[in-house]
Amino acid sequence: CPTVVMARYGTILQFLNIIVICVIFVDSTIVNTFTQDSVGFNHMTVDTITGDVYIGGVDYIYRLDTDLQLIYNITTKPDDGTDNYNKILSINYGDNNLVTCGNDHGYCQIRNLTDLSVLGTSDIYVAAPTVEDSTVGFVAPGYDDKPMLYVGTLKRGVTYGDETVSGRQLEENIFNVIRRYVDSKTAVDINEFNIGPGFVFYITGFSYGGFSYFLTVQRLGRYDNSYISRIIRVCQQRNDNYYDSYTEVTLQCNNPD
Ligand SMILES: *[C@@H]1O[C@H](CO)[C@@H](O)[C@H](O)[C@H]1NC(C)=O
Ligand SMILES: *[C@@H]1O[C@H](CO)[C@@H](O)[C@H](O)[C@H]1NC(C)=O
Repeated sequence: CPTVVMARYGTILQFLNIIVICVIFVDSTIVNTFTQDSVGFNHMTVDTITGDVYIGGVDYIYRLDTDLQLIYNITTKPDDGTDNYNKILSINYGDNNLVTCGNDHGYCQIRNLTDLSVLGTSDIYVAAPTVEDSTVGFVAPGYDDKPMLYVGTLKRGVTYGDETVSGRQLEENIFNVIRRYVDSKTAVDINEFNIGPGFVFYITGFSYGGFSYFLTVQRLGRYDNSYISRIIRVCQQRNDNYYDSYTEVTLQCNNPD
């Protein structure tokens, strides 16, 4: 069963699927653990102000205290009874809330950081609407210095939206991309890639120095089975609403070894 392990002086490094947590052990004493039977964990984030630990799992969001004691949980299971895997879990420090998205239609919610209740929702496909398709999402500064949700996903064609990397509003018109004209929006169109589904895997993302970055693994082409790592960067500034700054750089070792 999935477990979160907290070690003294330990840093919880990675959260792989449901089971593996890597901990750097300075002192290997396990102080506390949080375990849920029969529920998977997908994402975790720590509130840098309160120290509370938030976990996004299958059908549940959890809030734990700094000792990994459960404070609140809330179900995300849709009425139709299907499972809902957490795809995005990110704290919006500017507005003091928690942004969550699941594979249930890729829908997202803005939640109260205290009791996890839903403060805002919008029926827009944001995350991948499947368990297996990758999605990376995080809150960072955006247009007009307002917080934005940066999302990277390769959805399955236009049925689920045609944005690969997008910046989504979190204060007004929540989860919508900003549109100024019919064909301009704060998003990169999947049709620019001329590739099929499953060709880009979004691994992680972060904000640094006025840019939002995504790390990806990409298939070289429709008829080329080899894969390469690429880092993607978009500008967060106001004058780049349409992601003209979108850049991909291939990360490759020169030495064949
Ligand atoms: C959610 O919290 C309630 C009340 O503390 C607890 O009884 C229940 O087992 C929890 N459910 C999960 C799935 O964590
Ligand atoms: C968040 O939840 C707490 C506890 O239920 C409540 O006191 C507070 O008013 C809520 N905040 C918002 C913004 O709804």
